[in-house]
Amino acid sequence: MNEASNINEVWKQAKVAAAFLNERSLSIPDRPRQLDVLLRVLRRDSPGRFLDLGCGDGLLLATVLEAFPSSTGEALDFSPPMLEQARHRLSTFGARARVVEADLQSPDWRNSVSGPYDAVVSGFAIHHLTDGRKRALYAEILELLTPGGAFVNCEHVSSPSAGIEKLFDDAMADHLWQRRTQRGETVTRDQVLHEFLTRPDRAANICAPVEAQCQWLRDVGYREVDCFWKYFELAIFGGRKTN
Ligand SMILES: C[S@@+](CC[C@H](N)C(=O)[O-])C[C@H]1O[C@@H](n2cnc3c(N)ncnc32)[C@H](O)[C@@H]1O
Repeated sequence: MNEASNINEVWKQAKVAAAFLNERSLSIPDRPRQLDVLLRVLRRDSPGRFLDLGCGDGLLLATVLEAFPSSTGEALDFSPPMLEQARHRLSTFGARARVVEADLQSPDWRNSVSGPYDAVVSGFAIHHLTDGRKRALYAEILELLTPGGAFVNCEHVSSPSAGIEKLFDDAMADHLWQRRTQRGETVTRDQVLHEFLTRPDRAANICAPVEAQCQWLRDVGYREVDCFWKYFELAIFGGRKTN
């Protein structure tokens, strides 16, 4: 196990999974807008079979299964507490949803899923892999897509400078502080910023620039590659397989 994969293991801890699901998942700025962009990109083709990589509690798969009532999908993660939450959330879809345990750090994850897929989605997960693994994964996803199929990645990307990274950290602190004070918590904005900067899973982030990642997608053969939405370090980008 290399250093990056060791740090990544933090996601298997129940308290890290719970902190994300209870505190931050729904508090990500503009989450409704992000889901809207995701669905708009996918709606072009009304996909029937989905895969959600690094699914957490299955929010993205649940969103697309609701939007496309005759679709089915698989949700993959490597964290037992996340998988438990995903099973719970997705149980409402019965046989339309399957939850899969696999580690994206190895190309063997493909042995656990049953493609091809009309669309592969991912939310804030792939930045936990090294840049080399991200590029390889983008090619592995392309192989699993049907002709014309889409890959849409809602992702934490890197800032081009420390100054711009600080704009993101401040925007997140303002946003989270507002959410927490609105629900009646007594907490200072500095405390919220400190907690955001010292969260245990932060060290597991290996963020890469969105421009570079779009180029990696083109390099491995995706077409119509674009960054569909961006707010500082939060971006939605992706592409399609040739028809
Ligand atoms: C920030 S959470 C996002 C969860 C969900 N996709 C969402 O958008 O709310 C990141 C997820 O990626 C998963 N993850 C991180 N590294 C992974 C890996 N190597 N293989 C599979 N899943 C991984 C974590 O367990 C966690 O559920």
